[in-house]
Amino acid sequence: MSINSHVTVLGTIFLLLVASSQALKLSLGDPCTVADHPKLCRRTIKGQTNVNAATDMAIRVLMKRTMQAKDMAKKEPKGDGGVATCLSTFDSAFDNLAKSLKNMKENDGYSLNMNLSAALTDYDTCIDAMEGTQEANVFYKSAGVLYKMADNCLALSTLVKQ
Ligand SMILES: *[C@@H]1O[C@H](CO)[C@@H](O)[C@H](O)[C@H]1NC(C)=O
Repeated sequence: MSINSHVTVLGTIFLLLVASSQALKLSLGDPCTVADHPKLCRRTIKGQTNVNAATDMAIRVLMKRTMQAKDMAKKEPKGDGGVATCLSTFDSAFDNLAKSLKNMKENDGYSLNMNLSAALTDYDTCIDAMEGTQEANVFYKSAGVLYKMADNCLALSTLVKQ
């Protein structure tokens, strides 16, 4: 074999190793390998290896954080309307997350995906509204974290066994 074909063979082996290590991590019980924000995901699901339980937990933690952010938002001055928009989108996100938990129980993967996507859009709407204002920076940051958590929920939900 020429040097070039050795290089190609090694490259192929390397790519196969990378691909299988992702699959291996998942099979070793880390559902967060599919998440866009894996560290945040791992902090949220705390070692949960069962994908359904992990998704359920991630949704519940996000609901709790959403309520906390809402309490924080209530204390902010109303300003240019960004905070007010977030208060209403957080209510909507919370409802959509509650529906998602119901979808999980009913093994309705399609509705689960729809309701989680709706929650993700709610957080995005909040962030967009805050971007146009000079309002509370702390609050803007927490909305960003909630968005990432919702994104993780959506990724985890793709693993949910029907
Ligand atoms: C969200 O879940 C509810 C059940 O709680 C369901 O009735 C509704 O159709 C779902 N929404 C979407 C857009 O699928």
